[in-house]
Parts: sequence; structure tokens; C-alpha cells
Amino acid sequence: MKRVIRRLSRQGYKHIAKPLLFREHPDKAHAHMIIAARGLQKVRLTGVLNVWRYQSPRLEQELLGIRFKNPIGMSAGLDKNFDLPPIAKRIGLGFEIGGSTTAHVCAGNPRPWFKRLPSEKSIVVNVGLANNGIERNIERIRSYPRKLWRDFSLSVSVAKTNSPQTATDDEAIEDYCASLRLLESANAVPLYEVNVSCPNTYGGEPFTTPARLEKLLSAIDELRLTKPVFIKLPTDKSWTQFKALLRVADKHRVAGLTIGNLVKNRAKLKHPDELSNDVKGNLSGLPAQKITTELIYKTYEAYRDRFVIIGVGGVFTAADAYEKIRAGASLVAMVTALMFEGPQVVGEINEGLVKLLDRDGFATITEAVGSAHRS
Ligand SMILES: Cc1cc2nc3c(=O)[nH]c(=O)nc-3n(C[C@H](O)[C@H](O)[C@H](O)COP(=O)(O)O)c2cc1C
Repeated sequence: MKRVIRRLSRQGYKHIAKPLLFREHPDKAHAHMIIAARGLQKVRLTGVLNVWRYQSPRLEQELLGIRFKNPIGMSAGLDKNFDLPPIAKRIGLGFEIGGSTTAHVCAGNPRPWFKRLPSEKSIVVNVGLANNGIERNIERIRSYPRKLWRDFSLSVSVAKTNSPQTATDDEAIEDYCASLRLLESANAVPLYEVNVSCPNTYGGEPFTTPARLEKLLSAIDELRLTKPVFIKLPTDKSWTQFKALLRVADKHRVAGLTIGNLVKNRAKLKHPDELSNDVKGNLSGLPAQKITTELIYKTYEAYRDRFVIIGVGGVFTAADAYEKIRAGASLVAMVTALMFEGPQVVGEINEGLVKLLDRDGFATITEAVGSAHRS
């Protein structure tokens, strides 16, 4: 029955909701989605979204002492101010990475923030870390009932405030640490993600050279955080440069890697000439798919289970998610697919993953993690 509902929903999203949504400018569509989500929560109607959910014990994992009901999550950027966890759980996501949030309230870059490229299955993103700031966001997280976090984990993505006041490394590091200290004392979430690679910020990508990453991670080590820390890595590095960042991460209290962030290189588009240079921002979706899978593969090959990997970039189908899992990702997260395919895509991917486990003779998703290295 649920499978039929998911199929009907896919058709409904494709032929009714998406054309209506895509008629609006993406900045507006995103704002309206958040308003609609808040409305649904206020009138306690999120229960209807259960119809899309797909569950199987074969998809469950325990990682870093945290239980994940399934490996599919929401990546950072869709829910900057933590408005969506109840809906994210209802539609069947196993986890959410909220934010990125920063120590101070941040207005972000001048609009527009988004441009859709439907034929490229991509969004050009130039938000510049707009968010309500860590204090309000912690309050928001704490406003939810505790039972929301049963079988659904929230990670907070922390970035540095996008302003001239955080332009030096020391100021930027203090900005990250201020947010992490507050999160730690609030004890509100089980995981942190440190976004070292946000490309759309004042002063450029902050901590993506080995020396600067070393400085940041040394400062974070000193905080003696009790929750696992992931770092979100850039995608526009050669393998040699990327490996140098991994070498630094390996020396510090980094439990996991999120691979990876938006793609800067517009040559990764099928038709780069069609995107005018006036449009600022970096690419999500399909242009990020292959690059991130390759980085995950090489990282897992070099470090095996030293790091838990969250694979992010161009995941639209179960096959896309499975490829990242086989390459070495234990978890997979997405943003663009939720916007382009509709919320039923989560259930479709989870159902598809179980079929792929059957095909390859794996009893559980854990057996599939890194399996491309064994064949
Ligand atoms: C609208 C939008 C906003 C984003 N904002 C953030 C952000 O604040 N922090 C972050 O770490 N990544 C951000 N990202 C990057 C995503 O988390 C993800 O790494 C990237 O989009 C690739 O995944 P996807 O192909 O599933 O979208 C954003 C992406 C999109 C599309």
C-alpha cells in the first residue's frame, strides 16, 4: 500500500507540486517550504507524512554509539534554523544535519541565493551562511519534545560567522569554538559537523589548507567535546591536496568526515556556457556526484574504518546512495534530491537499498559499507 502511495506521490510531485514550486523563484520557494513546514507542525498534521516512510531492520546501524534507523539523511543547508526535524523524521529520514549555523546572527549574502539548473539536476548556491545564530538555534532545538530524537539523530553544522569580524584565522577559530562550547553545554544534540569548507563566505573557504585545518582542529581538541565531531570537506581539491587534509584530520579528535561540500568548478556542468558568470555561487546535485563518490572511495581505501563517512553529493536514487555506501560511506545525506524529486524520494531510496542488498546477498547495510573494495 505504502509503495503505491509513494508512486502516486512521485507522480503528484512531478506533475503538480514541482511545476508550481518551480514557477516561483527558488529563494521564495524555499521560504514558503519552511513556512508550510512550520504550519503543519503547529496544527500537528505532520503525522500524515508517515505514508512515505519505509522501514527495515536491515537498514539500521549503530555508529559512534548512536542508533540510525536508516542511512539516509538531510545534508546541511536546507534547514538552517532547525524548523524541519519533525518533518524530516516523519518522511523517513534517519538523521538530519541542520545549519550551517554560526556564533552570531548572520544575514548572508545579498539575494538571490539560489538558481535552479533543472537540466543539470543542480542548484547554484550563494547563501553565505544566513542563519539565526547558535543561541536562537539551540533554543529552537530544545523546544522540541525529547521523543522526537528517538530513532532520529540531529547533527548541528557549525560554520564561522560570515563577516569581516571573523576574517583572521584566530577570530574565525574563536567563532567556531564559541558555537561548539554552547552546543556542548546545552547537551542538545549527539553529533557536531564542522563546516571547514563553505565556499561562499567572506574571505573565501576558511580552513582547507593543512596548516589552517591543523590550527582549527587543535583548538577544537582543546574543547574536549563529548560528542563526535565530523568535518565537512571540500570537493575541489586534487587527491594529493585532499589526502593532506585527511592526514591532519587523522591526528585530531575527528570521528567522521562528510564528503563533501558544493562544487566550485563550473566545468563539471554539462553545459557550462549556459550559466552566466554574473550568477554567483557553487554547484549542488549531479555535478557533485562522481567527484564525491571518488573521494569517498579513496578515503576509505586509505583509512578504512578510522573515520565514519557521510557521503553527500548528487544522490537522487537508491543506486546513487548504494554506490557511495559501497565506496565506504556508512551514511548518505542529500539536499538537492529533496527539492527536485519530492519528499517521497526518501522512502523510495530506502526501499531500493533493501532490494540492492538482496541482489548482492548482504543481510544488512553494514555489510555493504565499503564492499566495492572487496570485489
Ligand atoms: C540550498 C543549499 C544550501 C546549502 N547550504 C549549506 C550549508 O549551510 N552548509 C553546508 O555545509 N552545506 C550546505 N550546502 C551543501 C549541501 O549540504 C551538500 O553538501 C551539497 O548540496 C551536495 O549535496 P546534494 O547534491 O544532495 O545537494 C547547501 C546546499 C544547498 C543545495
